[in-house]
Amino acid sequence: MTDSPMPPAPGFEVHGARGRFNAAFFSVMGPYIEWNLRGHKRRVFAGLPQTVVEVGPGVGANLRHLPRGSTLVAIEPNIHMHARLRAAAERRGVHLDLRDRVAEHTELPDRSVDGVISSLVLCSVTDPAAVLAEIRRILRPGGTFRFVEHVAAPAGTPTRFLQRALRRPWAWTFEGCSCERDLAGQLRTAGFARLDIELYRLHTPFIPFNTQIAGIAHA
Ligand SMILES: C[S@@+](CC[C@H](N)C(=O)[O-])C[C@H]1O[C@@H](n2cnc3c(N)ncnc32)[C@H](O)[C@@H]1O
Repeated sequence: MTDSPMPPAPGFEVHGARGRFNAAFFSVMGPYIEWNLRGHKRRVFAGLPQTVVEVGPGVGANLRHLPRGSTLVAIEPNIHMHARLRAAAERRGVHLDLRDRVAEHTELPDRSVDGVISSLVLCSVTDPAAVLAEIRRILRPGGTFRFVEHVAAPAGTPTRFLQRALRRPWAWTFEGCSCERDLAGQLRTAGFARLDIELYRLHTPFIPFNTQIAGIAHA
């Protein structure tokens, strides 16, 4: 029997070179990004349940926020992230249940999970409204979606101008990432029972990425 390459997750186009570049980029830049986001992540990821679903975990930036011995159901369609994600889960003592799926279609049962997390992912998914609907579908009543994401700057600001000017090379390099999404607005209209959200600004050289939100949406 010969090995055939795994077919890509439906709804996601795997790029050979850019998929590998992004896996390497987030491995190398991970500590710097984490240093900038750690306060917000510690706040919103505190007290996660024993089993957590993460959409778009990449190479495992958020594993450090899970207790050893917990289980991560990882919805990650970029197969070039998988080896690093497996190795990171092993190092952190987290049981990994890795699924080559898109966040729009997790194929998890209705009302089956207590916690979903994401960081820097809703900027990249094809359809953020569909992802939020899917997260609501799989969360049990009382479950939470905890997120740290980058968003569009207010209209008319220099940052917003830069986000627009750089949109094409940025999206090409970072596999569809958009810095122009009003994710706070989308979260507010997604039908969660309650939304706790904070808008803040980072001060990194990656200016289009500096306008951010972090929070907890309650099912
Ligand atoms: C910018 S990276 C962030 C990775 C990680 N969450 C972090 O904070 O370092 C975006 C991730 O979202 C994943 N992604 C893109 N589209 C997706 C989709 N439709 N469903 C699930 N994950 C997706 C990418 O493969 C990538 O791992």
